[in-house]
Amino acid sequence: MNIIINAFEVSPFAKTGGLADVTYSLASEFDALGHNVIVIMPKLKSINIASHNFQKLDYKLEIQMGFSTEFAAIWEGVVPNSKAKVYLVEHDEYYSRDSIYGSPEEYMDNDRRFIFLSRAVFEVAKVLDFTPDVIHAHDYHTAFTLAFLKSFYRLEERFSKCAGVFTIHNLSFQGKYNPYRVMDFSSFGMKEFYEGSWFEKDGVVNCMKVGIMFADKITTVSPNYSNEIRMAYYSEGLQNELNERGGDIIGVLNGVYYPDWNPTSDKLIAHNYTPDTIEIKKQNKYDFLKSYGLNESDNLDMPLFGMVSRLTEQKGIDIIKEKLDYYLGNKNIRFLLLGSGQQDYVEFFNYLKWKYPKNAFINIGYDEALAHRIFASSDFIMVPSRFEPCGLTQMYALKYGTIPLVRATGGLVDTVSEYNTETMEGTGFVFNNFHKDDFAYALERALSVYASPKDWEKLKQNAMKEDFSSVRQAVDYIEVFKWALEKT
Ligand code: ADP
Ligand code: GLC
Repeated sequence: MNIIINAFEVSPFAKTGGLADVTYSLASEFDALGHNVIVIMPKLKSINIASHNFQKLDYKLEIQMGFSTEFAAIWEGVVPNSKAKVYLVEHDEYYSRDSIYGSPEEYMDNDRRFIFLSRAVFEVAKVLDFTPDVIHAHDYHTAFTLAFLKSFYRLEERFSKCAGVFTIHNLSFQGKYNPYRVMDFSSFGMKEFYEGSWFEKDGVVNCMKVGIMFADKITTVSPNYSNEIRMAYYSEGLQNELNERGGDIIGVLNGVYYPDWNPTSDKLIAHNYTPDTIEIKKQNKYDFLKSYGLNESDNLDMPLFGMVSRLTEQKGIDIIKEKLDYYLGNKNIRFLLLGSGQQDYVEFFNYLKWKYPKNAFINIGYDEALAHRIFASSDFIMVPSRFEPCGLTQMYALKYGTIPLVRATGGLVDTVSEYNTETMEGTGFVFNNFHKDDFAYALERALSVYASPKDWEKLKQNAMKEDFSSVRQAVDYIEVFKWALEKT
């Protein structure tokens, strides 16, 4: 199959979260399965052109933006360890900025930045003489690709049989914009913008809705999330649209690209280990604690709870704050955070760091290598999310024998099961209510299993046996693509 992946972030070139991991692993796996896949993304300032060996191609793309024509160049590179080509759309005025997305106040032309890329996709395909069977667009940034495909480009021979698939990674970001601007430079015109049209939601253009309505098929990143979003609580206001397209929506569980996330071979961790040599895992924890100034007299075996996360409301920090303070002060636990985001959360974690210098290790910022070390060093990983379309960190943790403590929401339900001390089955600790006491009760269960060597060893073995490979994910997507092609 000829596949175009169209996304705003793709690892290792540019990443703010799981979206980048997933677009990267899909590209690699489609290629490994023998498909002809290309990735199209913006040439962002943070992309290291030299180290990834990108070359500028000798094409000048013409992109129609309403009544004006704008220009772009393209750069060609390769997804590491694969043959999949990556094309960066160069338009410095849009993409050469310090942040990928900025805040809506900072980057008031995000609508234009996203729509430009969504349209450029077709022009890139044309100059490369690439005839896609499927265009796979990810999240609201690239949602307009589906509208362009259905409304304009299907009229062209090259795209006449091309299916459009839209993957929702996170419904809470929708891209809501001024219709007078967007309907103009997207070339649809205000005549297409009226109450209830596929572009309109609550009086503005809603890109997420555009993706949902114009795609041939829609996926979410876990089966459970695809059910949840049909209900008001999780639908972020798009319940009607999601139910209208309900028959075309399917959940495909995200996968893990194990060549990068595997304690057996991970070059970013100090001590590699396998399920058979799991006792070595401890060395990572000891090294980590010692690097923070602790020594043998500090009881290095105290349970260590890690968290690698964007610091936003989604991630459930509100229900763990009080309990973390309590447990760090009264019980024998340590806490290790890597995260960046909202200032109030940053301040709270810095307060913990100040109050418990030997038990709370707080790393504010973004650090890919440190994330690997945390998955290898921690005993537990916390994912207490308010909602979680899929979540990757709990799956990474499982592979490293690091036990997830999660709230039962979204993909966390599909990937973690409660450990049962009777049957000795299960891979983690799961709580239902978004409430601090439910979280604390799960933490108590975790501590009691940690204190029982027989259970603790079994639990880690169960965790490491889990298989959420991105190979399976890619195979599932190919089935979705075939399904989408039936319709075109
Ligand atoms: P989301 O996409 O909602 O942020 P996921 O769990 O799907 O959540 O993916 C998060 C990804 O981002 C994981 O690869 C995780 O390791 C990574 N990550 C999150 N915060 C950081 C950080 N501060 N430094 C390094 N990696 C991070
Ligand atoms: C989103 C979601 C996360 C998911 C990721 C990759 O950012 O918040 O749950 O794992 O996308 O699909």
